[in-house]
Amino acid sequence: MLVTRACGLVAIAGTVLGQTVYEAESAVLNGVTIGTSVAGFSGTGYVEGFDTATDSISFNVSSSASKLYDLSIVYNGPYGDKYTTVVLNDVGGSQVSLPATTNWTTVSAGQVLLNAGSNSIQIQSNWGWYLIDSIKLAPSVKRGAHKVTTTPINKNANSDAKALLKYLGSIYGKKILSGQHDQDALDWVTNNVGKTPAIGGYDFMDYTESRKTHGAVSTDVDKAIAFAKKGGIITFQWHWGAPTGLYDTADHPWYSGFYTDATDFNIETALKDTTNANYTLLIKDIDTIAIELKKLQAAAVPIIFRPLHEAEGAWFWWGAKGPEPAKKLWNILYDRLTKYHKLNNLIWEWNSAAAAWYPGNDKVDLVSADTYNQGDHGPVSATYNSLLALTNDTKIIAAAEIGSVMEPDQLQAYQADWVYFAVWSGEFISGGSWNSLDLLKRIYASDYVLTLDEIQGWKKTTKPMAWEA
Ligand SMILES: *[C@@H]1O[C@H](CO)[C@@H](O)[C@H](O)[C@H]1NC(C)=O
Ligand SMILES: *[C@@H]1O[C@H](CO)[C@@H](O)[C@H](O)[C@H]1NC(C)=O
Ligand SMILES: *[C@@H]1O[C@H](CO)[C@@H](O)[C@H](O)[C@H]1NC(C)=O
Ligand SMILES: *[C@@H]1O[C@H](CO)[C@@H](O)[C@H](O)[C@H]1NC(C)=O
Repeated sequence: MLVTRACGLVAIAGTVLGQTVYEAESAVLNGVTIGTSVAGFSGTGYVEGFDTATDSISFNVSSSASKLYDLSIVYNGPYGDKYTTVVLNDVGGSQVSLPATTNWTTVSAGQVLLNAGSNSIQIQSNWGWYLIDSIKLAPSVKRGAHKVTTTPINKNANSDAKALLKYLGSIYGKKILSGQHDQDALDWVTNNVGKTPAIGGYDFMDYTESRKTHGAVSTDVDKAIAFAKKGGIITFQWHWGAPTGLYDTADHPWYSGFYTDATDFNIETALKDTTNANYTLLIKDIDTIAIELKKLQAAAVPIIFRPLHEAEGAWFWWGAKGPEPAKKLWNILYDRLTKYHKLNNLIWEWNSAAAAWYPGNDKVDLVSADTYNQGDHGPVSATYNSLLALTNDTKIIAAAEIGSVMEPDQLQAYQADWVYFAVWSGEFISGGSWNSLDLLKRIYASDYVLTLDEIQGWKKTTKPMAWEA
C-alpha cells in the first residue's frame, strides 16, 4: 500500500508495500515555489526555484519506531547534472547526485535512521536548479546473514591464527571489539574509562634500519606479547620508513620517512626487477620485521597484520605510484613472510575500500578502512557498504583506525557490522574533543562493545564467551 502523507494529513493512494510518499508541494518551503507546468508530477504540483544557497524544503516525516529507511527522491533535472544535500534531523548532511533528465526520475538518497515519532528531512539547495516532486521512504530490508570466510588464506596458518579468524567470525555482526592504538593510549583508557580495550594496536615503525641508525628504539613487540598474555588481541601496522632516499631536512625529518613527501624513494623502479639495490633494501627491511614477527609467533601470539595501510591516499611512499606497485609489494610481503620465513601466525588485513587497489580475495583475510570524522559518532555505513561490495561480503570488515568512536545503537540500526574499532592515540582518545570521556564510558559499557574482560579465553572456541553467558 502506498501512503501519501503531507505533514500529518494522510491520504491512501496506491500500490507499493510499505512505501510512504511525501509530496514536496505539501512540505514546508523556504525560498522555493510550487510549479505545475512540467507534466507528469504526482500530487498537485512540484517544487522549483532553487536559486539561492538557503533555499530548502523541509519534510516532517514520522516513524512508529526507531528504524532504518531507504530514502529516494523524485526529481526532474532539465538544467543539467546537479547535486542536492539531504539533512536528517538538522545533523550532518549527505550529498545526492541528481543527473540531468527531462522526465520525473527516482534516485536513491541512501539510508536514514528515523527516530520514533516525528523527524525532519530537509532538501537543501546545494547546486540548486532542479525540480522536486516528492520523497519516498520504505523500511530498509534487513541484510541476510554474512557469508564471510573464516579460513585464513595461508594454507599453513597455525592454530593461533586460525583461532583468531574463527573468533572474529563468531562475533561478526553480533558484537564489536573495542580497540586502541599505542600502549600509552591503551593504558589511558584502562585508567580513565575504567575498561580495557579488547584489541591493542602496535607498530613495527621503529624496528627498521633507516630509523634504528637514527637512534630509534621500540619495545612494541614486548608490549604486544605482554598484552596478549592478558588475553588481548593484537594488531600491528607498519609505518615503514623508506629504506633509503630520506630527505632528512627540517621540513621532512628522517622520522617522517614513511611519507611520500619525505623521500625520493621510488617504489615503482625499486620493484622493476629483483636484483636492483633498492629491491634488496626492501627485502632486508621485511627480513628485519620477520625477526620480530617470529618472536610473536614463538610466544603463540597471532596478529592482525595491517602493512601498507592507507595506500590509496598516496601520502605514504608505498601508495605514491598508484595501485599496481602497492599490490605488487603486498604480494612480495606475503610471499617473503609466509613462504620464506614460515610466519603462520598472521591474519592479513587490507586497509582500503578502493576496488582498483584491492589485492584480491585470495590475498586478504580481513578488509578495513580508516575514518576520521570529528563530531560524527555515526556508523560510517557508506564506507562499510563499500567494503562489503569490495569483497561481495566474503571477508570480515574492520574499522582499523578511527578518530570518533561509533554509537553502538547506530552500528546495529544501520547494520554497519565493523568487527572492531581501534581509536588513534594521543588527542584522539584522551583530548576530549574527538571523544568525550562520558561518551567513551558509555560506549565502553555498552553490551554491544566487547572489552578485554569479556573476551577472555577467545582462543578456546568450545568455551562460551563471557558475553554469551
Ligand atoms: C511534525 O508532525 C507531527 C505530527 O505528525 C507534529 O506533532 C509536529 O509538531 C510536526 N513538526 C513540525 C516541525 O512541524
Ligand atoms: C526521459 O528523458 C530522457 C532524456 O533526459 C529521454 O531520452 C527519454 O526518452 C525520456 N523518457 C521518457 C519515458 O519520457
Ligand atoms: C634507489 O633509491 C634511491 C633513493 O630514491 C635513488 O637515489 C637511487 O637512484 C635508487 N637506486 C636504483 C638502483 O634505482
Ligand atoms: C556475490 O555473492 C552472491 C551469493 O553469495 C552471488 O550470487 C553473486 O554472484 C556474487 N557476486 C559476485 C560479483 O561475485
